[in-house]
Amino acid sequence: MSVQSWKEKLDGQLPEELSAEVDTFETQIEQKKSGQIDDRVFAETRLRRGVYGQRYDNGQRFDGQITKRLEYPCGELFKGPDTYWDAPGMQRIKIPFGGLTADQLDVMADLAEEYADDILHITTRQGVQLHFVHIEDTPDLMRRLASVGITTREACGNSIRNVTACPISGVCRTETFDVTPYSKALATFMLGHPDCQDFGRKVKIAFSGCAHEACGLTSMHDLGFIAKTQDGKVGFEFYVGGGLGAVPHQAKLFDDFLPAEEILPMSQAVCRVFARLGEKANRARARVKFLLAKLGLEEFQRLVQEERAILPHDDAWTAYLDDLDSYKEEPLKIAAPLNGAAKPEGYDAWASTNVYKQRQEGYVAVTVSLPLGDITSDQTRALADLSRKYVKDTIRTTVEQNIILRWVSESDLTQLYGELVALGLGEPGAGTIVDVTTCPGTDTCKLGISSSRGLAGELRSQLAAQSMSLDESIKNFRIKISGCFNSCGQHHVADLGFYGNSRRVNGYTVPHFQVVLGGQWTENAGSYGLAMGAVPSKNIPAVIECITGNYVANRQGDESFQDYVKRIGKKEVKNMLTDLTSVPAHEEDASYYVDWGESREFTVGDMGKGECAGEVVTLVEFELSGCETESFEAQLQLDEGNYEAAYKGALSAMLHAAKALIKTQWLDVPDAADEIVKEFRERFCDTELFYNQFAGPKFANYLFRVHEEEISEYTQDVAHRVIEEGQLFIEQAYACYGRMNVVNA
Ligand code: HEM
Ligand code: SF4
Repeated sequence: MSVQSWKEKLDGQLPEELSAEVDTFETQIEQKKSGQIDDRVFAETRLRRGVYGQRYDNGQRFDGQITKRLEYPCGELFKGPDTYWDAPGMQRIKIPFGGLTADQLDVMADLAEEYADDILHITTRQGVQLHFVHIEDTPDLMRRLASVGITTREACGNSIRNVTACPISGVCRTETFDVTPYSKALATFMLGHPDCQDFGRKVKIAFSGCAHEACGLTSMHDLGFIAKTQDGKVGFEFYVGGGLGAVPHQAKLFDDFLPAEEILPMSQAVCRVFARLGEKANRARARVKFLLAKLGLEEFQRLVQEERAILPHDDAWTAYLDDLDSYKEEPLKIAAPLNGAAKPEGYDAWASTNVYKQRQEGYVAVTVSLPLGDITSDQTRALADLSRKYVKDTIRTTVEQNIILRWVSESDLTQLYGELVALGLGEPGAGTIVDVTTCPGTDTCKLGISSSRGLAGELRSQLAAQSMSLDESIKNFRIKISGCFNSCGQHHVADLGFYGNSRRVNGYTVPHFQVVLGGQWTENAGSYGLAMGAVPSKNIPAVIECITGNYVANRQGDESFQDYVKRIGKKEVKNMLTDLTSVPAHEEDASYYVDWGESREFTVGDMGKGECAGEVVTLVEFELSGCETESFEAQLQLDEGNYEAAYKGALSAMLHAAKALIKTQWLDVPDAADEIVKEFRERFCDTELFYNQFAGPKFANYLFRVHEEEISEYTQDVAHRVIEEGQLFIEQAYACYGRMNVVNA
């Protein structure tokens, strides 16, 4: 008897258009196999369906406890960016506003079990990722998702990504109104929209129910909507051009009141302008934030409004507004207080961090903490059953990589807690210092430099062990970690942020993290932190102890961490860290040369002793570290409001880093900026020596642009941008030098 395929099984049950799309993708995979489709076309095709390449890392994965080996025979597999196109990859799944049903959880649990490594990973934008998925399995995976109303369409690629929203909207005690229907309507409207198919890069959208909390993180999105009412009308403060990435930008206020009926057409108009005028050739400058910076807010507004005025009318813009009641959630159980029920051990600690009293009397939203954002298939299925038992389909993922069950009756809390504990899902500490956010990092991401998940796992267990003795003032700190400067772990908006990089020390490449302090999580990610310097990965726990210890000992009254950092000054913070920046010799302590969660020495392929270039090593390293100091001083100028000095300091740091590299070839390089830039271009850019493996000439172009640009007004934004760019330029100078040193060795 022949086994029925998923295509046959689900025939007629999927939306026609989606079903046809998956069929096409299946054909394209066949074409790719037989070499009939251009590689670049196939790459964009699969990315638009959420199918990413991933680092295979010899089939290993750190799960927060141990490094597991995964059996996926696929030719000769190896670590690094050059994994085979059909080696197991990552499948990103879009979850608009993080909303899930129990049936959807069940299906994803099955998919993780059958096609991936048995783990569902919740992302920093409320999505779900499965790793180690074979590309041949993706069409069936997509069909099965479509059968429960989920799409992976435009989960990656140059498209509108997952639309996010506060995970407690609708039940929040302080929201202006529930943003769920609006976020859902915009996500649906934009999905596959013809005006959203020709972007130079991705567009991210977020909704927030209020301005003061963090949930929506609207400031760091390309389009951000904050709920607002005016004269009895429902609408939004509308922001544009925010974003993280290597150079973070705060979004700018486009309109202080956009009526609800305008959010779809206005977003469409922004997309049209972005598709028409946004950068296409240079990916590094292809986000909305760069177009906004290039045009200026006023011109951007004018163009968008002009576009809005000529848009052909579409009924979909407002159709959903007639049906807002259909978005209303209902509880499964009647509301009742938790009267005198016996409380199991650990309950109080868990309830103090993981239970949120809803504005609806007698109901709570329960956060299920997921260390590193991971949940197994069995846990997921069991969680689906718990949601059927205690609530209806009122499940949400969060940007802090947890899952929330809404509408739990208070009277069920102790029993629910007991069941979560039995499933290994009862950890306390949601939204506190132990709830560390992390991107996939070197475990599965090809761009990862240091192990963000390894570090997060280590910090979580160290901090959880100390949780009873941690001072109240630091308990709610946010720690966020990215494996590289791209900031997928959102390190810019944490109290304590870290992003991965590396340094050549004693002839070895050593994993490091940049320490980023002073980011603000509240007020929708209201401000970004600045880098304080690179510290060896193995010293990051000590960095946290040092900084938080100093804060607890020296804070004045109830001073916030951000205010404390401002008061003592970044120079002082950097001084505190000086001792932690050094790396012992390999013979003295080899553990510094192995990243967290790894069993092998750091990036074996990069290893090599640069003995033959000893003298030059010393000189260049010395000079580059001087550039870091210069860049740091530019940050101090920025803090003091001296924008011109900050700008010029950052440019000078870049020029000196370029000069340091030129000196490896020509010691007598002159001091004049024009000469440095000319020599650098010829020796390091034209030769591609300074090229980044993934970003090409991106960082070199920072120098060329800043050197040439004429500034009419030195604003905070302009100075901040050049400082960020300068730091990345210096990072790249280190990387370039590291590579040269390996070649020389
Ligand atoms: C040049 C390449 C990349 C850049 C510039 C980049 C940048 C970003 C930024 C800024 C965010 C999150 C902040 C936000 O919420 O807006 C993000 C999200 C994310 N990134 Fe990346 N990223 C890159 C490549 C990758 C790769 C290769 C992976 C892993 C395979 C990855 C994994 C993630 C994940 C899991 C998220 C949350 C995504 C979601 O649910 O939509 N990123 N990325
Ligand atoms: S921050 Fe870097 S390492 Fe982490 S997922 Fe993004 S690109 Fe990969």
